[in-house]
Amino acid sequence: MQELKRILSAEQPNINRALGCLTAELPQAARPVAEHLFAAGGKRLRPLLTLLTGRAFGCRDKGLYTMGAAIEMLHAATLLHDDILDDAATRRGQPTAHTLYGTAKVILAGDALLAKALLTVSAFGDTRLTASVSEAVMRTAVGEIAEFDILRDTGVSHQNYLEVVTGKTAWMLRASCELGALLAGVDEPLARAAADFGLELGVAFQMVDDALDFAPAETTGKPRGGDLREGKMTPPLLSYLASLSDDEARAFRAAFAEGAFSDEAVEAVSAAVVAGGHARRARDIAEEHLDRAAAALALFPESDERVVLRQLLGYIQHREH
Ligand code: FPP
Ligand code: MG
Repeated sequence: MQELKRILSAEQPNINRALGCLTAELPQAARPVAEHLFAAGGKRLRPLLTLLTGRAFGCRDKGLYTMGAAIEMLHAATLLHDDILDDAATRRGQPTAHTLYGTAKVILAGDALLAKALLTVSAFGDTRLTASVSEAVMRTAVGEIAEFDILRDTGVSHQNYLEVVTGKTAWMLRASCELGALLAGVDEPLARAAADFGLELGVAFQMVDDALDFAPAETTGKPRGGDLREGKMTPPLLSYLASLSDDEARAFRAAFAEGAFSDEAVEAVSAAVVAGGHARRARDIAEEHLDRAAAALALFPESDERVVLRQLLGYIQHREH
C-alpha cells in the first residue's frame, strides 16, 4: 500500500493543477459552482485510474492529466445533480452547491461541466475516446433512473442492485481506465481488459461504500444509515432483511416502504446490520468483483503501475471511510 500512498500524494497536485486549468476555462456563470465542489477535496480516484492505466500501457503523454481532469469534471457534474436528487445538505464536509447557489443554477452548471468534459475529450480527435466517455455518461444516467425505479422497494434482488451500481458508479470508473488505455494506443483486447478492470473495481467500490454506510459516524465522518433513510436497498440490507423473522420482516418492509424510520430506528437497524455480519457479507461479495478486476489486471503487461493498481484493489477492499 506504501507505493499507492506515495503515488497518490505525488500525483494529486498535478491532477488538481490540470483540473484547475479546465475549471478556469469554464464560462464565468458556471465556474463558482465547480470551484466550490473542487475546493472541498475528494480522492481524485478517477483521474488516478486514467493516469495509472495509461502509464501501465506505456503512455507518457501529459494528455493523461487533461483526460483525467475531464473525467473528474464529469464526475463532479453527476455529484451536483445527485445531491439535488438526494436532497443532500453536505458533500465532502461542505454545504452542497445547490444549498448555496440554488437548484436551477446548479442543474445548469452541472450541464455545463458535463459539456466541458465532453468537449475536452473530443479535442483529442479520436472517436473511440468520445464514444467511451459518452457511453459512460449515458449508462450513469440510466443507472440513476434504475435506482429511482426501485426506491423504497423491499422486493428488489441482488441482480436489480447490480444493474443500478454498474450504471451509476462502475461505468464512469470503467471509462476512466479505458480512456487511459486508449490514449496509450492499445488494441481492442487490452482496451477491453482495462475496461473490465475498471468496471469490476467500480462495482466493488460502490458495494464497500454501501457497507460503510452502516458503520458508526465516528469512523466514516458521515451520518450512519443514509441509504436506509433514502430507501435504497443495498446488499447489507438485503442480507439483514433475509435474517429477520416473518413478523420482523413485515414491520421492516412497511417502515422501509413508507420511509417511516425514526432516527433511533435508523441507528438500531444500522447497529444490527453491523453486529449481524451483514456489512461484512457485502464486503465478501465485493471481494468477488475485486477478484475479477484482478483477473483483468493480470492481462496488463508487467509494470510498476500494474503493481500500484493491484494495491488499489486491496485499498478498496479494506477501506474504513
Ligand atoms: C452517487 O451515488 C451518485 C452517482 C455516482 C451518480 C449520479 C448520477 C446522476 C445524478 C445522473 C447523471 C448526471 C449526469 C450529469 C450525467 P450515491 O447517492 O449513492 O452516493 P453519495 O453518498 O456520494 O451521494
Ligand atoms: Mg447521493
